[in-house]
Amino acid sequence: MRLDRFLSVCAVATRSESKRAVRGGEVFVNGSAAKNADMQISPETDEVFFKGKRVEYRKYTYILLNKPEGYVSATDDPKEKTVLDLLPEEFRKKGLFPCGRLDKNTLGLMLLTDNGELSHRLLAPKSHVRKKYRFRSKFPVSREDAERFERGVTLEDGYVTKPAEIELLGDGDEGIITLYEGKYHQIKRMLDALGNKITYLERISFAGLELDENTLPRGEWRYLSESEQEELEKIAGISEIPNANI
Ligand code: URA
Repeated sequence: MRLDRFLSVCAVATRSESKRAVRGGEVFVNGSAAKNADMQISPETDEVFFKGKRVEYRKYTYILLNKPEGYVSATDDPKEKTVLDLLPEEFRKKGLFPCGRLDKNTLGLMLLTDNGELSHRLLAPKSHVRKKYRFRSKFPVSREDAERFERGVTLEDGYVTKPAEIELLGDGDEGIITLYEGKYHQIKRMLDALGNKITYLERISFAGLELDENTLPRGEWRYLSESEQEELEKIAGISEIPNANI
């Protein structure tokens, strides 16, 4: 594997950052300063140091993106801008894809990875991964509607949603919604079924990951930290819902 790819896979540096660090003599492979960022290394056996720190080999890449409005959750689209357009070109080549979908006009936390198994597990209907959304609606949500929402709502196609949570704020036309499943346009359809309409939707949490809006502006991305990766891999193997078989 190329050294710059290794550093990028291990969430240490992008390709251009790797090149700069190699030029500055800050990357060592088996005790010698690397001369070129495109040199070949063996990720399992070679010892790589980046800016004085040993780099632990990680097979997969995990990116947290603060998705803006107007981008579709796809890797490629003939007409629309995709969330991959917000990342450096190398991530496309690497096979990164969005883990789950947000609608074009939904904002917020999006996980992108090249780990197909993890993504499959997080999105499987039985995994019940927790997702939190900040919302605004056209009309205030009444107490009765909030209770219906929490019990389960019958959508226009007859599907009855799993129990969800809704916390109302202000005059009741905004708040936080928590889901444990992910059907197509689910929140919009749930509000439609209650005779209401979503006017703003932003995902603020997904599978234990939190959107840090103060440090990650809209449209920006970052690598997951090591502890976030470990937690995510743990969650991919377990269920978060209190009564997982509901
Ligand atoms: N529910 C929706 O309606 N849209 C989203 O993007 C996510 C959840």
